[in-house]
Amino acid sequence: MDTDDNELYRLNRTDDYHRQDLETLGWELTVCNSLYPANTPIRRILKQNTSYGDLLYRYLAECIPLDAVAKVMEIGGGYGYLMKDFLGNDPDLKPSMLDISPALLKKQQETLRDHKVEYYLRDALEMENAFFSSFDLVILNENLGDFPALVDIDPVILSENYIPGPDDTVRQVRHFFDVYGLEKPAASFNMNIGAVQMVEKVCRAGIPYIFIGEHSCECLLPSDLKPFFDISWTGNPMRIRLKGHDEFTIKFSYLQEIAGQLGYKAKRGPFADYIVPDINDHVRAILASRGLYSDSEEIIYQFIGDVYEYEYLILMKQ
Ligand SMILES: C[S@@+](CC[C@H](N)C(=O)[O-])C[C@H]1O[C@@H](n2cnc3c(N)ncnc32)[C@H](O)[C@@H]1O
Repeated sequence: MDTDDNELYRLNRTDDYHRQDLETLGWELTVCNSLYPANTPIRRILKQNTSYGDLLYRYLAECIPLDAVAKVMEIGGGYGYLMKDFLGNDPDLKPSMLDISPALLKKQQETLRDHKVEYYLRDALEMENAFFSSFDLVILNENLGDFPALVDIDPVILSENYIPGPDDTVRQVRHFFDVYGLEKPAASFNMNIGAVQMVEKVCRAGIPYIFIGEHSCECLLPSDLKPFFDISWTGNPMRIRLKGHDEFTIKFSYLQEIAGQLGYKAKRGPFADYIVPDINDHVRAILASRGLYSDSEEIIYQFIGDVYEYEYLILMKQ
């Protein structure tokens, strides 16, 4: 983690890790990857027993006119499973995949070898806004938490009396509070600076539809599930330590506010809106024991927590 000269914040980046060190996502089981194997025990506790990409495609079809979507860009597509499912649902889609990781882009090429796909080995944050303009739908699933985050920001940098020095990062933070009127934290805070820049970029590109899904720092557990989990959200992006890098949970209210001011209507909720668990007596017993009795029950317990801890935003250009 870098520390700037003034020690007014620290910067968390994962780009070197993704470019150089990452070989597999195996240890970092995303919701999409964990639902991919047809025999996974978690599929059996869902109201619809299918993959993540199928569930998301069906849900998007209820929320937006998918027949108006031809060109789809997926940023940070991991193993390519989501796009494979989308193409299974609509073989006429024209897909593009952009990823910072050479190893994962190669994996996407293997997964999607039967399809015509355009690939870009790039950092999404370094692309011009105009690059995204020709797409009808952009998907950012479980990757904004990897984008740069600022940690332990001193709120003094937001005060009107503070005159920023030559440090560009402080100016970037102030830009989001000044231009979009984001609610200012009173105490030291963390900020998903890369995520807000990415949302500003794709919204300024005027893409008709944008899907974002990630681990949230703001969502709410339904009251009947609260007794089974010790999850609490502070509204401040939280560090998640992973192999070789740290991620931060996402403050979705900031993304929604920025998109709203750039002309986007938003539908927001937990992943459980489209990955719907069937909370029957059997599942309730697993939750009550906190998944202690077998490996598969532990996976189910963890997964049900995840579908409420992860949020999505469907952004629709007005
Ligand atoms: C946690 S994985 C998620 C993969 C997949 N979307 C899923 O849900 O399984 C994060 C993905 O984002 C990519 N990524 C991270 N930072 C990126 C950046 N700045 N630009 C483009 N891709 C990035 C990673 O290489 C990886 O493919």
